[in-house]
Amino acid sequence: MVKSISAGLLGLGTVGSGVVKIIENHQDKLMHQIGCPVEVKKVLVKNQDKKRDVKIDSYKLTTNVEDVLFDPEIDVIIEVMGGIEQTRDYILTALRNKKHVVTANKDLMALYGSELLTVAAENECDLFYEASVAGGIPILRSLVEGLASDRVTKMMGIVNGTTNFILTKMSKDGRAYEDVLAEAQALGYAESDPTSDVEGLDAARKMTILATLGFSMKIDLDDVRVKGITEITEEDLQYSKQLGYTMKLIGYAHRTGDHVEVSVQPTLLADSHPLASVNDEYNAVYVYGEAVGETMFYGPGAGSMPTATAVVSDLLGVMKNMRLGVNGRSAVAPQYPKQLKLPDQMFSKYFLRIHVKDQVGAFATLTALFSERGVSFEKIIQLPVKDSELAEIVIVTHQASLKDYEEVLQQLNDLEIVKSVKSSYRVEGDGSL
Ligand code: NAP
Ligand code: HSE
Repeated sequence: MVKSISAGLLGLGTVGSGVVKIIENHQDKLMHQIGCPVEVKKVLVKNQDKKRDVKIDSYKLTTNVEDVLFDPEIDVIIEVMGGIEQTRDYILTALRNKKHVVTANKDLMALYGSELLTVAAENECDLFYEASVAGGIPILRSLVEGLASDRVTKMMGIVNGTTNFILTKMSKDGRAYEDVLAEAQALGYAESDPTSDVEGLDAARKMTILATLGFSMKIDLDDVRVKGITEITEEDLQYSKQLGYTMKLIGYAHRTGDHVEVSVQPTLLADSHPLASVNDEYNAVYVYGEAVGETMFYGPGAGSMPTATAVVSDLLGVMKNMRLGVNGRSAVAPQYPKQLKLPDQMFSKYFLRIHVKDQVGAFATLTALFSERGVSFEKIIQLPVKDSELAEIVIVTHQASLKDYEEVLQQLNDLEIVKSVKSSYRVEGDGSL
């Protein structure tokens, strides 16, 4: 039996500080589970003199990565520094030095997950990344272990806390986008560059990881259609409410037969959908399995302690595997070749807001265009636009293929009576109006 297990940290920021606190505060529990103490031996930081909100002996801090990666007493590297290319090199070096790795880095795993997992297996090392998706929610383990016997056909996720916080405050409290984004940054939910949050890239990276595991198919970041929340207006949120929907940034992954689609886009969710009541910075992932039916996983998707919980649970997983001598054997390679749906195989309802000239025959022209493409109306609202000769028309369609819908959108812009297409969103479920 080993006397103690040593971890080396790369990074001591929001997540790293939480990891150190949990290892210290829950030492009894860790010892009970693995039978020996766990120690943080070395920590890589950028600035050794920075004031930290966690107690740590200063001799453990280093700015030289080799002090961590090449320390023969360190068994597990915990990567919580972020970044992609340099971090990839550090992790590859760690694995080739037979050190197990735990990471919270979705940017890295979405791009290089497959390569890193292969190198980990070749070196009989574990590479665990539970914290990379939905912070404190154990969703990866649930997909890979809890639902291992089922065939998952649909995953819908609110997987970015920053955008959920922004949309909640905008629609419930009528607050301005910039104001709420600044608050999300101050609260530590946003990435250092929040563009990746608000433009949907952070959620797309997480959906790449979820879809790869849930569908057992190697999905790449480029396979995800992405649209962020920056173009959502107050009017869109008002109409959404009026029609019985809640606007959310939804990661959508759907399998029909052997073909899949993955997207991240603002979506009008029926108020009755379980994801519609997930508010503020909270995350949730709705998973549909053929045998289990509907399931939903809910919890804090970001923040120091919730994310650190997932990191330290992964560390425990590594240590249990060490005790059993089975490191590097748990990752299962994707079972299916990648097959993506084409636009004529993707179906949804859509919300559309357009400004048209308020004149005789305008509505008939619109109807003709939609019916030509086989896209039918489920709901329509028409109102005059104040101080203008225009009418605002809001349409919710019945199910239509993406191909037909995109053709309608393209042709709308060419119609003489159409002044502008103001907004267009995916719709999930039935509203109440
Ligand atoms: P953070 O607060 O910015 O901390 C980053 C840490 O890494 C800092 O301690 C920094 O050192 C160190 N660091 C960064 N670049 C370095 C370099 N080149 N060399 C040496 N040290 C370096 O970041 P975080 O929020 O903890 O996030 C860490 C990772 O977890 C990221 O991959 C993030 O996407 C992921 N994640 C975060 C959350 C969350 O809620 N924050 C949730 C899930 C996943 P200094 O302290 O000296 O500056
Ligand atoms: N910026 C991310 C979010 C942090 O808002 O969800 C957690 O990954």
